[in-house]
Amino acid sequence: MRIGILGSGLMGAKLGTTFARARHRVIFSYARRQAKLERLAHEAGPNARAGTPRDAARESEVLLLAVHWSRLSDVLERAGDLSGRIVVSCSLPMSKDDSRLVIARTSSGAEALAKRVPRARVVSAFHTVPSEVLFGVYAARRRAKRPHVVYCGDHAKSKRVAARLIRDVGFDAVDAGPLRIARYTEPFALLIAQLAYEGKGGPELAYRFERFR
Ligand SMILES: NC(=O)c1ccc[n+]([C@@H]2O[C@H](COP(=O)([O-])OP(=O)(O)OC[C@H]3O[C@@H](n4cnc5c(N)ncnc54)[C@H](OP(=O)(O)O)[C@@H]3O)[C@@H](O)[C@H]2O)c1
Repeated sequence: MRIGILGSGLMGAKLGTTFARARHRVIFSYARRQAKLERLAHEAGPNARAGTPRDAARESEVLLLAVHWSRLSDVLERAGDLSGRIVVSCSLPMSKDDSRLVIARTSSGAEALAKRVPRARVVSAFHTVPSEVLFGVYAARRRAKRPHVVYCGDHAKSKRVAARLIRDVGFDAVDAGPLRIARYTEPFALLIAQLAYEGKGGPELAYRFERFR
């Protein structure tokens, strides 16, 4: 797939690199310095390049949204028309100081985003995973028992694409249902982060999520 990375920070850089190594064609965009995007593309290998958000939106069928919530308007404006694109969002609707969710209970960041880009297909995924664990999970992806990542969305084909990307990173993909389920997965992501960073187990806790069969 052709994947545009909107936000090349901790999440965007690691997921973009992982996708490029899994042989997707990746455009890294949206960082404060062009040199950083060039470096990421160089390190990710021949399937990656640096570009602008507009390049990413125009040339990719899938976009990974990985910006701080406060940067959402800016990145969407720079990306331009997202009609027909699948937008996989790991952006959580956090306040500027990251102390709380600014959307919760009756809606979610994913649903608010879907209203902002009505001609795109939004899938919410990856936000329950701290970026630190991504390379380790990717390296271990052939293990029989793999950690799970939940995702949700309203469009079946887009969800299949997101599930494939989740598997490419090394997780088992757990379909949590329609996009409104993000109302529950977004607070869950904060619980995971709290446990990962403030508990004793470290980020490993983040993916010790088991499905009861
Ligand atoms: N990090 C995690 O473990 C994690 C886990 C789950 C969900 N998330 C969510 O994923 C999203 C991204 O998180 P992150 O940790 O990857 O954030 P981050 O490291 O701060 O990355 C955000 C990106 O936005 C760019 N940026 C910020 N201000 C900019 C500006 N004025 N102009 C151009 N680019 C600008 C940053 O540029 P620079 O690269 O130059 O700084 C960076 O590339 C957030 O919504 C977060 O809640 C993160």
